[in-house]
Amino acid sequence: GETTDEETPGSVGEIVHRGLKNLEYRGYDSAGVALVGPESGLTLAKRSGEVDALSVPDVPDATLGVGHTRWSTHGPPTDANAHPHTDCVGDVAVVHNGIVENYEALRAELADHEFTSDTDTEVIPHLIEEELAADSGGEEGGEGADLLAAVRRVEGRLEGSYGICAVREGDDRIVVARRGSPLVLGRGEDASFVASDVTAFLEHTRDVTYLEDGDVAALSPDGVEVYADGDAVDRETETVTWEADAAEKGGYEHYMRKEIHEQPTALRQTLAGRLDVDAGDVDLDVSFPPGFLADLEEIRIVACGTSYYAGRYAAQLFEDLAGVRATVEIASEYEFGAGRTPDRTLVVAVTQSGETADTLGAIRRANAAGARTFAVTNTLGSTVTREVDGTAFIRAGPEIGVAATKTFASQVATLAMLGVAIGRDRGALAAADARSVLEDLQGLPGAVQQVLDEEQRVREAAREFQDSEAFFFVGRSLGVPVALEGALKLKEISYDHAEGFAAGELKHGPLALVTPETPVIAVLTDGARADETMNNVTEAQTRGAPALGCVSAGDEYDTLDASFDVPDVGVVEPLVANVYLQLFAYHVANEKGRPIDKPRNLAKSVTVE
Ligand code: G6P
Repeated sequence: GETTDEETPGSVGEIVHRGLKNLEYRGYDSAGVALVGPESGLTLAKRSGEVDALSVPDVPDATLGVGHTRWSTHGPPTDANAHPHTDCVGDVAVVHNGIVENYEALRAELADHEFTSDTDTEVIPHLIEEELAADSGGEEGGEGADLLAAVRRVEGRLEGSYGICAVREGDDRIVVARRGSPLVLGRGEDASFVASDVTAFLEHTRDVTYLEDGDVAALSPDGVEVYADGDAVDRETETVTWEADAAEKGGYEHYMRKEIHEQPTALRQTLAGRLDVDAGDVDLDVSFPPGFLADLEEIRIVACGTSYYAGRYAAQLFEDLAGVRATVEIASEYEFGAGRTPDRTLVVAVTQSGETADTLGAIRRANAAGARTFAVTNTLGSTVTREVDGTAFIRAGPEIGVAATKTFASQVATLAMLGVAIGRDRGALAAADARSVLEDLQGLPGAVQQVLDEEQRVREAAREFQDSEAFFFVGRSLGVPVALEGALKLKEISYDHAEGFAAGELKHGPLALVTPETPVIAVLTDGARADETMNNVTEAQTRGAPALGCVSAGDEYDTLDASFDVPDVGVVEPLVANVYLQLFAYHVANEKGRPIDKPRNLAKSVTVE
């Protein structure tokens, strides 16, 4: 939402609508806006479906507006459940990200209010209505009723996570509150902006202020006031330097394909200025308390989805490079657990967005247990960076496609550097061994480019096998997380049944599913115990399955139906093989005409647990 004093007809509505479109990539199932003008009062429009399908009313005198795209958590995606939500009087409108955990209790308390949706959000405007009524001695909209004061008091009663924006007829401010869900303010010359992500309003201003948990702020055209615990506070203004058009599609048909092709560049940025190959060391600009790394007992990685597979890749690297036990846990399953020493445990959250609620939950549990926490993320100013003791940024640039591609590569590369840094600090990694890993990392952008140059062949394979019943991805060692990620990519965007297995497990169950209609796709590179994996692939071939493989350059497995060369880059070869799997998923989905950048039922950033 934003406020502006421009008088251009419909301009506020258009700005809000465009802001919603800029955030479309995050995934949504409904959209809505509320516009407020001195004469027109409060005008609302909302519906389920695409942002484009929402017709934003023309309100010439509107000076402020809020908008929202919804990804359902409480109540199905219907017009009524779309935000903004209003109170009974109909003069307050609220949009909300996150979950009000105590909404049932609050709703019970508001028994005399009429509710029109199934959402947790709707309690907020009704609570605001109560507070406003109390302020004005029971007289609705009367003297003394102040939206800012009301939101502040309501905020104190909500449990859970939220980013809230509230507007009220007759008030020329947008009042916002943040706890657990991101909110960023933008400061323009004669307008103020607020959004859950800067890309919403980057075309209007680059001067931004990230709100902190517990902050309440009031926006008007000439500025913002931020309050913490009731006191006015100064929050720093930063200037966003990256270009909005970095987030545009370039010449590609889909963001995903563009982002797959951006990987050499992304990886160069990830590595830039951080490798000292001669000394066998890296500089990630992170520090740990004296003695912490030497006494380290365990590195525990927590993550979801694709980031979880990056974490699995990294856990194996950490054990080798850092000489320390490394485990990885799906964030929503993570507990600190018995038999561990908090001050000798490093919990590393891997999260592209830095906003995944499951991952934030895991970090909060780790912090509560007293462990040292660390984040590997793509997003400056994201929530996770505020909650951990240290952060390494992966510098992959904005990723729009819901299916993560370049961020996976940059995460693994960053984690590999972290492994080297920790290993060197602990004296667990000899300079010569570090040097060889760093040389492999240096070779990564070029190796990925060589794979991209083979895209046409991958496309042909995708065409040949696209009508298969199911796809099985297998690997060993570092090939396992890549097999799992390859299967995830394919199922996400093609909607085909795909599964990844440790190759050795094929014979313990999945082999029952193997037929001539189920191609097996194998990671057969260095770091992935290729010969043993090939034995398992042969077992599947014997049962009629076609087999495709990503094979270290120079090696040959003659029986494969299609073989794709992976340049020699040691422990990151499986990561390079993954680029073939990304291309394969993309082309299978593209042949089928799937909405690749916005697959059904999925969201880029899942901010609910
Ligand atoms: C969502 C996305 C996945 C992503 C996962 C973790 O489920 O659809 O592509 O891997 O969240 O996201 P994060 O931002 O924490 O890396």
